[in-house]
Amino acid sequence: MCRDVGKKSYLCTPEMIDQETIQRIMDAARIEEVIGDFVSLKKRGANHIGCCPFHNEKTPSFYVSPSKGIYKCFGCGEAGDVVAFLKKHEHFTYPEALLYLAKKYNIEVREEEQTEEQRERQNERDALFHVSEFAQKYFDHLLWEDEMGRAIGLSYFHSRGLSDEIIKRFGLGYCLDEWTNFTDHARRSGYSDAVLEKTGLTIFKEDTGKSYDRFRGRVMFPIYSISGRVLGFSGRILSSEKQAAKYVNSPDSDIYNKSRILYGLYQARQAIAKANKCYLVEGNLDVISMHQSGVENTVASCGTSLTVEQIRLIKRYTPNVTVLYDGDSAGIKAALRAVDLLFTEGMHVRVVLFPDGDDPDSYAQRHGSAALQDYLAQHEDNFVMFKTRVLLDSVKSDPIRKAELVKETVQTIALVPDLLERTEYISQCAHLLDVPEEALASELSKAINRNRQKAYEGQPQAPAPQSPQDTQNIQNTPIIQNVQNTQNIQTPPPDPREKQLISLLLNFGETSIELAVPDERGVNQYYTYPIYELIVNDLQAEELTFSHPLCQRIYEHYAAAVDAGQPADATHFITVDDEELRQFAISLMVDTYRISDSWKKKQIVVPKLDDNLQLATTEALFNFKLKCLDDRIADNAQRMRRATSDDELFVLLEEKKQLIALRRDIGLALHRVIS
Ligand code: CTP
Ligand code: MN
Repeated sequence: MCRDVGKKSYLCTPEMIDQETIQRIMDAARIEEVIGDFVSLKKRGANHIGCCPFHNEKTPSFYVSPSKGIYKCFGCGEAGDVVAFLKKHEHFTYPEALLYLAKKYNIEVREEEQTEEQRERQNERDALFHVSEFAQKYFDHLLWEDEMGRAIGLSYFHSRGLSDEIIKRFGLGYCLDEWTNFTDHARRSGYSDAVLEKTGLTIFKEDTGKSYDRFRGRVMFPIYSISGRVLGFSGRILSSEKQAAKYVNSPDSDIYNKSRILYGLYQARQAIAKANKCYLVEGNLDVISMHQSGVENTVASCGTSLTVEQIRLIKRYTPNVTVLYDGDSAGIKAALRAVDLLFTEGMHVRVVLFPDGDDPDSYAQRHGSAALQDYLAQHEDNFVMFKTRVLLDSVKSDPIRKAELVKETVQTIALVPDLLERTEYISQCAHLLDVPEEALASELSKAINRNRQKAYEGQPQAPAPQSPQDTQNIQNTPIIQNVQNTQNIQTPPPDPREKQLISLLLNFGETSIELAVPDERGVNQYYTYPIYELIVNDLQAEELTFSHPLCQRIYEHYAAAVDAGQPADATHFITVDDEELRQFAISLMVDTYRISDSWKKKQIVVPKLDDNLQLATTEALFNFKLKCLDDRIADNAQRMRRATSDDELFVLLEEKKQLIALRRDIGLALHRVIS
């Protein structure tokens, strides 16, 4: 039934293809060939690289690893296996992607009979999609064609300054102010009470058995999936005097899950990828106003506070988010909460605060598109500036509240994954709040350790169950069925700085670099060493070890080779008889360096690894040493808390001073190396 790989064969389910066939398809598929049909790839070492098809880029940062069967873009973060690629690139569903591969590799597909239950569930979801689309068309029709609809709904949108064109682009509509107008129409068209109830379009009263339209008398904002299917609605009341809620939203259902949906993403997604930036606003009307003003890379979280799933949706298009919030205190609070979560997810965050009483919509309506665009360009701050500017005035004269502000700000900075970005924030924060940088740095390393501890404790003990159906409406979660899960659950992830050094060892350890060493006459003598030898010598001299057990084991392999005077090589780990170690090492061989965005921003020439391995080695070593120092500083702080005598405290304080001075020296040296 679904042999035609069309975009809309909703009736296919993965259950229809038997497991054995899926396995054969996955075994046959060569990821570099499949992706090579869409992207021009060049071989580079073990990987193939090309320009990412999911965002605009001129220099290639899209990696395909044939050995691991995965792709990853270091520019936009998009990653997955061959099926995930097809789903994303061709907008296929899971079974469509499998059928496409089967066709490409001439594999015959035996389709399994669906069980009664599976068929029922699939039919039910299809029915929900159908009735939602039906409702959207009807509300749209009423808005444009019905006398009341035009007089009330359309004129309301016009009064809010919306053009006909934008109303159509967002599929806005109107639901008549009658108890059962929509429900009657839907029933006449053959939709069952069950689907009307499940989508929430009709409300059924249990006690009286009566039913009525959920959205009666409201203007309608349909909510679309990324691929443009109607999933649900948000309905706004017209009059302000009623006690009813301003917005009524579809309840969660099999097809609609508000925490995984962003209002406007369907209309904004291309603009987001193109601009490599996403504006996040609060309200539906803010989204529409921004689009009408020419700022089309704008979305809103649908009446919920921002969720991790929503951030991951944005991340598929860009790592850059600018949060736009009203200048009232609720707006500021919401913005700060969103910022923390965005940082945790590794996004680059900026903030625009509107004058008190204005939101993007009212600003655009009052001052026009050009003024709005100017405002955005001129008021975009990084969050440290934002937070200090907003809060500093109120705490200036109160040292306790100022200390709290400092602490809070550092806690947020601790969520930033990128070292250089963090360092930059810390120095800005020190400057703005007039606090010594060292004090912030030690506060920061404490906060980072706390977060890491928390993340470790919060790790689930078993992978969360995944229903393939869940992914259909927003194509969000990469499909990992029959594909091994490389995420390792027992061991927490390594510190990025440990990971950086180990990646370097694994990927470039055997490459030799030339070192100039002055002899007794001061004349440079040149020696070549493999990188692993330099690293081992350096770490042994300072007696440094890795905290992460797997990093330490990889390092020890190299150290043992150096001690024995024998060559070391990374292929050892590809076959090593330890599943956990092997997976970990291989993932680092693919997931090599991510070139720091803050370097690009600062116009620092990023060392191309092959061209300038020496610089990369120095930088990785410095970073690793900073990490070791951070650990010692945190340890010192902990011992200080436990100290029982003044003498002990004094010794610890001295140690702390030295550690902080050392950290600053290394930090400065690192800055000299990379700037
Ligand atoms: N919201 C909601 N339920 C409410 C109020 C708000 O779900 N009772 C959600 C809606 O998604 C709304 C968003 O929160 O878009 C922001 O609320 P608000 O700023 O009050 O709404 P606007 O869309 O800006 O509407 P308007 O400008 O017409 O007041
Ligand atoms: Mn508003």
